[in-house]
Amino acid sequence: MLVKATDMGVRRGERWIIRHVELSVDRGQLIYLIGANGAGKSTCAKAILGLLDIDEGSIDRTPALEVGYVPQRLALNPTLPLTVRRLITLTGRFPGTRIESALASVGLHRLGDPPVTTLSGGEFQRLLLARALLHRPDLLVLDEPAQGVDMAGAGVLLDLIQDIRRDLQCGVLLISHDLQAAMSTGDDVVALVPHEHDERPFGLDDPYAGAARRAAGQA
Ligand SMILES: Nc1ncnc2c1ncn2[C@@H]1O[C@H](COP(=O)(O)OP(=O)(O)OP(=O)(O)O)[C@@H](O)[C@H]1O
Ligand SMILES: [Mg+2]
Repeated sequence: MLVKATDMGVRRGERWIIRHVELSVDRGQLIYLIGANGAGKSTCAKAILGLLDIDEGSIDRTPALEVGYVPQRLALNPTLPLTVRRLITLTGRFPGTRIESALASVGLHRLGDPPVTTLSGGEFQRLLLARALLHRPDLLVLDEPAQGVDMAGAGVLLDLIQDIRRDLQCGVLLISHDLQAAMSTGDDVVALVPHEHDERPFGLDDPYAGAARRAAGQA
């Protein structure tokens, strides 16, 4: 077990953003986290990573857990002339060989060192993945890594993630809206349904919850 959340809940004001979430990731496992916009997926990811405190339940992490994180959004200062190699080393100092091998593993090693603003959407997402790999993570948390990537590119990215999982023997928590991929490639699919305290009209017919039930062979 790398990480295990039990009855996890996060509240903001009067509202539970997520509640009663059960989720665990083992070494070598690919766990999909799915749900409608606003269901609390990013919140869940941040809680798993320890980036925000939970208000209910517990999270167990294996000691000295190394994590790699591809956030849904990265706030970049547009006036900062960031290059590929500068961006990837913002979070720490790494030997050059490790940087090269991280870039190579996502197919960006021959790109040189262009400003990140000139990268295509797909290249930028692969760069974020390379950055997450620098830490040689036990656990990779990827928050919609295929955003802005076309269908072929999303397939390439998923293959890459599978290769990385095999090579590093790491666990992967993958937030995605691709129900088909979730059902066919995930070891487990966790669906977040906006909590019942929430007023929005989601519920039993939520397509994400339905997909997760089918993945679990329950419907
Ligand atoms: N710090 C906060 N304070 C108040 N509400 C918040 C906070 N962070 C998130 N929320 C709310 O919690 C809900 C869940 O947000 P979250 O970003 O986790 O959803 P998500 O499932 O990742 O959605 P998306 O698919 O759009 O990325 C949203 O309604 C959001 O507005
Ligand atoms: Mg999100």
